[in-house]
Amino acid sequence: VVDAAPLITSLVSAFPPIVRQSDLWDGFFARHLGERRAARMAFASTGINSRHAAVNPIDEDVSGWTTAARMERYGIEAIPLGKEALADALARSGVPADEVGCFVVVSCTGYATPGIDILLARDLGMPADLKRMVIGHVGCHAALPGLDVARQFVLTERRPAVVLCLELPSLHVQPPSDSLDDVVVHSLFSDAASVAVLQPTAPGGLALVDVVSVTDVSSESYMTWTITDLGFKMTLSRRVPEVLAGAVGPMVDGLLARHNLARSDVEAWAVHPGGPRVLDVIADRLDLGPGDLCVSREVLAAHGNCSSATILMVLEALGETRSFRPGAHIVALAFGPGLILAGALLRVEGES
Ligand SMILES: CC(C)(COP(=O)(O)OP(=O)(O)OC[C@H]1O[C@@H](n2cnc3c(N)ncnc32)[C@H](O)[C@@H]1OP(=O)(O)O)[C@@H](O)C(=O)NCCC(=O)NCCS
Repeated sequence: VVDAAPLITSLVSAFPPIVRQSDLWDGFFARHLGERRAARMAFASTGINSRHAAVNPIDEDVSGWTTAARMERYGIEAIPLGKEALADALARSGVPADEVGCFVVVSCTGYATPGIDILLARDLGMPADLKRMVIGHVGCHAALPGLDVARQFVLTERRPAVVLCLELPSLHVQPPSDSLDDVVVHSLFSDAASVAVLQPTAPGGLALVDVVSVTDVSSESYMTWTITDLGFKMTLSRRVPEVLAGAVGPMVDGLLARHNLARSDVEAWAVHPGGPRVLDVIADRLDLGPGDLCVSREVLAAHGNCSSATILMVLEALGETRSFRPGAHIVALAFGPGLILAGALLRVEGES
């Protein structure tokens, strides 16, 4: 089965306008979340220099908007953004839209029916017999189950599949608050669309060998994303990093053991930068070197935590900043509500 592993032949992201983290604080959140020193420091300690916002709160305050108004805006913003990333990714892979057999759309920040999966497939010219899967409201790790669905499709049908992760958390700014917890959740998240194209064969790419996940149900209350009348509201416990720290070693070792590999066989790590503390604890528990997560930190600094799109952005950046020998193994890790840790094993094939 490993030899037939589908290949990721392009990874492409598109972003709404960029906004500096410090400008977001000075221009909106200081007033919105209480101008206390602790709040300012929490907002500044994310490791994020800039983020992306389809709706920039400095220009347009949606914190009082109904969920209906936010969902309507989601459709308006998501279509051009998704189209840009999809068109670029398909072109780079050399896959005509009408040859796509399966389209997986991942998002936890907006819903409609007919959804963006139907509208984007129509606009791009994907075929009428397209298989579709929408993975909704799952969270930051959802790209990996999305890739797994595409992988299973390509393995059995030997036709191309496309995964789109599109997140617009800027639509879910919550009403004014003076809670430090609200400062943290408003300090991290950012908008993006990222696409992975998978093909059964190609001269080169990233073979998607395996995808696994583990859920620690005892921590189900540590990360929540609740649909309210005023958008979606997040809670994030301080204990998230400690739960991930406890579970990551056995999860990674189990994933590698399924393929007779050990941590020393892994050439590069692509870790979802949920926040700087998350990267610190993962590096510590996996005994990684100081440079091993620099690409994850760079993605966090330049783009923020773009929820499900982020792990695809880290893989994309890894491919752009490093060259790998054929056969090199990469492990991708992402985390989300559950708490769930998801992991993927990838192998560099051909030229990279
Ligand atoms: C939030 C974060 C950026 C703050 O970074 P930091 O300031 O460098 O470092 P610390 O972790 O020491 O936290 C500083 C303060 O913020 C508080 N804090 C940390 N996480 C918090 C959270 N989720 N909610 C509320 N407060 C939080 C800490 O308790 C601490 O407050 P104290 O000084 O009064 O004790 C960092 O803790 C982080 O990356 N957390 C993980 C974020 C996460 O879970 N992301 C989603 C995973 S997919």
